[in-house]
Amino acid sequence: MSTPQTASLTQDELKTLVGQAALRYVQAGEVIGVGTGSTVNKFIDALASMKDQIAGAVSSSVASTERLKALGIPVLDSNDVSRLGVYIDGADEIDHRGYMVKGGGAALTREKIVAALADRFVCIADESKLVQTLGQFPLPVEIIPMAARRITEQFAKLGGTATLRMKDGAPLVTDNGQHILDVQGLQISDPLAFETAVSQWPGVVTVGVFAHQRAQVCLLGTAQGVKTMEF
Ligand code: 5RP
Repeated sequence: MSTPQTASLTQDELKTLVGQAALRYVQAGEVIGVGTGSTVNKFIDALASMKDQIAGAVSSSVASTERLKALGIPVLDSNDVSRLGVYIDGADEIDHRGYMVKGGGAALTREKIVAALADRFVCIADESKLVQTLGQFPLPVEIIPMAARRITEQFAKLGGTATLRMKDGAPLVTDNGQHILDVQGLQISDPLAFETAVSQWPGVVTVGVFAHQRAQVCLLGTAQGVKTMEF
């Protein structure tokens, strides 16, 4: 299903379109899961129009929490919720099976936790994020700092080059107080097996492959409108 021609829209406008389109997956009375990033920011802004109809949101980052609260949307602790009907989040890459790479915004650990609470993951993205095979985008991996060297060497054995993510001249520190490696040069043809394997390496907090927590729906902003993909 597509909405009318949007060929002249910018990437930012496409993000606004998919952010607004995601409102139809929000059920009145429910607590919803909210991701992180520029596309989700559009969703949060749209969600403000429904704030009196929902029971609240579980957030995946400090940044999203601040935005939700600023708009008057109640934010709940994930430990006070046993399940969520839906989790809405962006992606750095998504393939035709709903498998994703995430973590460009460094929020991958909390994103995976909140996604795991939800019955359904609705990914919102512009069409630049749709890929045949995951791995073009440098794979984010949240790590315990003392394991950086060994994990870098393990990725090198898989053909990947890991770089410590920096911010303002120092290693970026996540909301969880850890560091991020960005790994280039990987071709992730079996995302389920890859996620399972890398998640077990000592010192890996979270790998940015979302295969076990894949999307069930993707709302993709395209030149032809918002395309709904179901997996
Ligand atoms: C943050 C993420 C984001 O979902 C991902 O980086 C996409 O962000 P954007 O919507 O800004 O392109 O995983 O950790």
